[in-house]
Amino acid sequence: MGEIAVAPWSVVEHLLLAAGAGTERLQEAVQVAGLEAVADAIVDELVVRCDPLSLDESVRIGLEITSGAQLVRRTVELDHAGLRLAAVAEAPAVLRFDAVDLLEGLFGPVDGRRHNSREVRWSDSMTQFSPDQGLAGAQRLLAFRNKVSTAVHAVLAAAATRCSDLGELAVRYGSDKWADLHWYTEHYEHHFSRFQDVPVRVLEIGIGGYHAPELGGASLRMWQRYFRRGLVYGLDIFEKAGNEGHRVRKLRGDQSDAEFLADMAGKIGPFDIVIDDGSHVNDHVKKSFHALFPHVRPGGLYVIEDLQTSYWPGYGGRDTEPAAQRTSIDMLKELIDGLHYQERESRRGTEPCYTERNVAALHFYHNLVFVEKGLNAEPAAPGFVPRQALGVEDS
Ligand SMILES: C[S@@+](CC[C@H](N)C(=O)[O-])C[C@H]1O[C@@H](n2cnc3c(N)ncnc32)[C@H](O)[C@@H]1O
Repeated sequence: MGEIAVAPWSVVEHLLLAAGAGTERLQEAVQVAGLEAVADAIVDELVVRCDPLSLDESVRIGLEITSGAQLVRRTVELDHAGLRLAAVAEAPAVLRFDAVDLLEGLFGPVDGRRHNSREVRWSDSMTQFSPDQGLAGAQRLLAFRNKVSTAVHAVLAAAATRCSDLGELAVRYGSDKWADLHWYTEHYEHHFSRFQDVPVRVLEIGIGGYHAPELGGASLRMWQRYFRRGLVYGLDIFEKAGNEGHRVRKLRGDQSDAEFLADMAGKIGPFDIVIDDGSHVNDHVKKSFHALFPHVRPGGLYVIEDLQTSYWPGYGGRDTEPAAQRTSIDMLKELIDGLHYQERESRRGTEPCYTERNVAALHFYHNLVFVEKGLNAEPAAPGFVPRQALGVEDS
């Protein structure tokens, strides 16, 4: 038998091999192949990975692939037929990736490292609206934004080492936890994945939709789907109609009413997870935390979203020093001090307060914090450890 004629592999074979051999080796491979060819290989890989979307019309997404000072552009389009290269360059959203980081994510080993050096830019067409366009105009804009967010998320999911299904669920159900407003879902995924397959009780403050009874519930549906053995409670100050599913219960109440919260939690808690996505008024955030944190199970998490309002006077925040009033961020800074109460001379001989004894960790992200419940009983550094740094004068 004669030899089988095998067409040579394109640049992808070299990239595949190099991606498992360390960053320097991959950088070399990108240089040898040239960024144009690398960008083509990346688009080919996205074509393979990207799921078709049930969109009524295709959405274009710009791609910028960088390597050092070099930048190469491509535009892709997505619809029910999947992803393909587009003929027209203009797009309502542009994704920028570092080539080496993206290739390591696509083709490298799964080693726990996060490959997320990507940026998203939204064009003006995502925000342009004037009141004289009326309700129909607002609905058109919302539909367009949702379509573009869906497409951008699909490309990012295809570019991820593994698909982050929480981001996909956020887009599918219409929660703003992943969209052009917030990028929370990858952090949720990071902290919540250990709860995904265990029975959990989840409470979210803020169902969504504000006054409109028939609107909201997106994140409740998302949590129900994500926590496949979860019972999900949603709390809102407004009455909420609609059935979100057999594992969701909706409650009406005010998160600024500490007595109500404690009573409610006594009846339906304890919770594994509490998420505050309610009014975002600083005073409410602090009251809710102090009322509900005692009802979080050890090992559980208390999450506060939209911490930007700590800096917004309209929400009882401030952007100046010193503190005119305590903000949510001020409360969280105190929790950090509380985590280290054992190390403070000023606290010697005094009993820790509830949060000092029960906050085990704080994980901060942009506008988002995860407060982990657990016994904070690690003793202070022993007495023989000098409290005076060598060579540093006592001031
Ligand atoms: C940003 S939306 C929640 C979005 C929803 N969590 C999601 O991700 O789809 C905020 C909700 O908090 C509710 N809210 C505002 N003030 C509140 C309060 N004092 N107590 C409880 N809920 C409140 C609003 O009615 C609104 O529906």
